[in-house]
Amino acid sequence: MPRLDERLKAVARSIRCDTHLDVGSDHGHLLFALLKSGRVSRGIAIENKQRPYLNSRTTLADVNADVRFGEGLAAANPGEADSLSICGMGGRSIVRILSEYPDRVPSQVILQPNQRIHLVRRWGYENGFTIAGETWVGTDRIFEILHFVRQTTGDGDFVDPAYEGFDLETAFHFGPTHLRQRAPEFLNRLQEERHYFGQFPHRQPETEHRLRMIAQILGLDNH
Ligand SMILES: C[S@@+](CC[C@H](N)C(=O)[O-])C[C@H]1O[C@@H](n2cnc3c(N)ncnc32)[C@H](O)[C@@H]1O
Repeated sequence: MPRLDERLKAVARSIRCDTHLDVGSDHGHLLFALLKSGRVSRGIAIENKQRPYLNSRTTLADVNADVRFGEGLAAANPGEADSLSICGMGGRSIVRILSEYPDRVPSQVILQPNQRIHLVRRWGYENGFTIAGETWVGTDRIFEILHFVRQTTGDGDFVDPAYEGFDLETAFHFGPTHLRQRAPEFLNRLQEERHYFGQFPHRQPETEHRLRMIAQILGLDNH
């Protein structure tokens, strides 16, 4: 039985439903563990590359899973899954997959972007979802996991109350839950990032922007 690493274990803890859909299943380990542990009773894996598709088929051959070769949610049907995960991709790719077929996105969505997490939070905010959970794992490399729950179909009027009182851009980057909780581990992480990037005399505008937001969160006048 494949063992999940800390990152996928953290993802799995947010999933419990009847049918779960995993886009970009690759090795198929997440669905396998979810099925074997009884957290889900049926799985759908979607892959758009031949080798990972075959790997998923091998891993999921003897469990209740449907492995499909296809491009994102083009290979899914509306209403067939209760929850969806997309893990280990950049935020831009994740948002593209979610936005291509909005009617195929179930009401529970668990996302683990490797970069550009702000695009993913913005997607949830603009599409009628609330953040039900934000967690992170790792030390040298941090992996963030977001759990979204649909509240409306995104008619533009609904606002996730988690963002109330925060500058939106800052909250998209750092997470409204983390900003509200201000846990010591979170604040330490920001201090470390500030220290790390502070060493470089020349920084990209994107990094400067991030450092300004970090300074604001930490209550420092300038960085
Ligand atoms: C870096 S791997 C992550 C695998 C696994 N989800 C994890 O977190 O360990 C990303 C996988 O997503 C697949 N992928 C990327 N874009 C996709 C798309 N649009 N539709 C289906 N699969 C996709 C890739 O082929 C690759 O196997």
